[in-house]
Parts: sequence; C-alpha cells; structure tokens
Amino acid sequence: MTANTRILRPDHDGVAEAARFIRAGQLVAMPTETVYGLAADATDGEAVARIFAAKGRPSFNPLIVHVPDLAAASELGGFDDTARRLAERFWPGPLTLVVPRAPGCPVTELATAGLDTIALRAPSHPVARALLAAAGRPLAAPSANRSGHVSATTATHVAADLEGRVAAILDGGVAPHGIESTIVGFDGDDVVLLRPGAISVEVIEAIVEHPLRRRSTGESRPNAPGQLTSHYAPRASLRLHATHAEPGEALLAFGPACHSTGMIVNLSPAGNLVAAAANLFSSLRCLDAAGVERVAVMPIPAEGLGTAINDRLHRAAAPKSIE
Ligand code: TXA
Ligand code: MG
Repeated sequence: MTANTRILRPDHDGVAEAARFIRAGQLVAMPTETVYGLAADATDGEAVARIFAAKGRPSFNPLIVHVPDLAAASELGGFDDTARRLAERFWPGPLTLVVPRAPGCPVTELATAGLDTIALRAPSHPVARALLAAAGRPLAAPSANRSGHVSATTATHVAADLEGRVAAILDGGVAPHGIESTIVGFDGDDVVLLRPGAISVEVIEAIVEHPLRRRSTGESRPNAPGQLTSHYAPRASLRLHATHAEPGEALLAFGPACHSTGMIVNLSPAGNLVAAAANLFSSLRCLDAAGVERVAVMPIPAEGLGTAINDRLHRAAAPKSIE
C-alpha cells in the first residue's frame, strides 16, 4: 500500500509533514493521551477507506472523529445541555461523546458507518492537537493496530503492526494513559456508557448527577433494533452476486455495469475497492432516497476492502427480521 513509512519527530517540521500527508488523503499514526490513533482526513471517503484497509478490518466499524475543541465538534454533531456540560468539563481529554450527526456534517458516511450519530473527541495530547491544527481537518482515528491486535501505546508498537501500511508515524513517545477513551452516548435523558476507558464512570456520574446506564458498544454482538450502535440498514432488499438486474430492480454496480433497465448506482466504475468502500453508505442511502424496493448487487471481489464491503452487503441482504 504505502512502500515506506516515515517516522517523524513530533516537532514543527514533523507535524507539518504529517499534515501534508493528511491533506493528501494519506494515513498518519499519531500519539494521543490514550493510545496511538491511525488518522485520516474524516471528510475524505477514500482516505477513511484506507484506514480500514490498513487495519485489515473485515467489517466497517464507526470511527472516533477527533477535533480541536467543542466549537469544532459543534459543526459536526448536535450537543444538548448534558453533552455540552461533559465536553466543557472533560475536553480536551479522553472522553468520547456519541451525538447526533449535525445537518450538513462534512464527515464521510464511511467514518460513521452510515449511522445518524457521530463519535467525537478532543484529545489533549500536544502532538495530536498540533496535527489537528496543522491539518485543519477533523481526523478519523481508530486505535493504530491491526485488527485483532492490542492497541499501540508507542511508535515502535505502531510500526510493528503498520509499517508499510501508513505514510508516517509521529513519534510522541509513550501514550500516557495507555488505555482508550471512555465512550458515552445519549438516549433521551439517559447517559449511556458505551465503553469504559480512561475517565472513570464515577467522575462522569458526578457531572451528570445521576447514574450512567451501562451498555456495551456491542462490537461483536448482533445488532438489535434500538441499540445505540445498530448499523445502518437500507430499506430496500438486496439480491447479491447479480449478473443482471431484473425488471423492477435497481442496480448497485461495481466496475462496468451489467444489463439493467432501471436506476443504476455504481460503487466504482473503475472497479476500485477503495473508491467502492468510500461510496458504499452514500450509495445505499441514495437508493433508499429514490424509493427503490429491490436492488441487484453485482459481485464484489472478496479481497482487501472487498471483504468489509461484502460483510456490510450480506447484512443488508439478510431478512429484515434479523436486522
Ligand atoms: O482512545 C481512543 O478512543 C482511541 C484514540 C485513538 O482516540 N481510539 C479508539 O478508536 O479507541 P477505536 O476505533 O479503536 O474504537 C472506537 C469505538 C468503537 O468501539 C466503535 O464501535 C465506537 O467507538 N463508536 C464509534 N462511533 C460510534 C457511534 N456513532 N455509535 C456508537 N459507537 C461508536
Ligand atoms: Mg481499537
């Protein structure tokens, strides 16, 4: 993917170089106060697709979007009084808030896995903050490790997992907390603990003034309706591995489109998996918005990002009672 990974010093020049990579749609591993993050421009669908490719993730999980402060966060998500109070008390710092996506939010749908919510956090680490300032973009960043490996807390750990898969690693030494951020979401008046982490529940409860509801992010649990992390499911029914579209079906194409008399949405006319991943959620939404009921989906190669794309399409094609 990326032949040589540059190890950058966390000084002015190193951060400027890292910001150039980010603005060019490349990946940069950055230190944060929790663990190292694998950062990309959150507004660039193909850059975010490269995160999933580099991690070797077989599915699209929503990512945390990093911002400098509450003002920047408020352009991306909706903050009610409680969310605002938590941000004002704990930002910058290791608390992630899952809030509704703001209308016109420029973050690519791939970063939020098509959800109507967005996970936001303002990190306190000076190198992460310097990169956010220099890049001038919100940064989507999961932990900088290969899928299934533990989170990386040093640049050496990052390199062991991601050498040759990222443009650069900003070496900021040891990540101080060594454990991920605490994630909370909001459900009516309830504040819901989605992942325990660097900020303790008791400290958050003291600000919220009532107990947090416990609920796991359900990374490996089946989706249930109403679950905060439930994945975006299109209304239309999908027929996979289609060689043509039947009358009455729309076509979701990949590469040169096969025969169809109906609406055609192409994930990537060039047959590029990075582009297809970047377009996946917006394409499904586009078909739903057009009121399409049945969609024929052309085969997607089961390699690289194709595995994650197929995972999403299979779930979308499953009977709706299971979703
Ligand atoms: O400390 C951290 O949080 C680190 C540093 C780099 O910031 N990042 C991190 O990211 O741990 P990651 O991708 O490894 O974990 C993100 C978690 C996932 O469990 C994901 O399901 C959850 O955040 N998440 C993201 N967006 C969400 C959303 N809209 N709703 C519910 N959960 C969400
Ligand atoms: Mg992780």
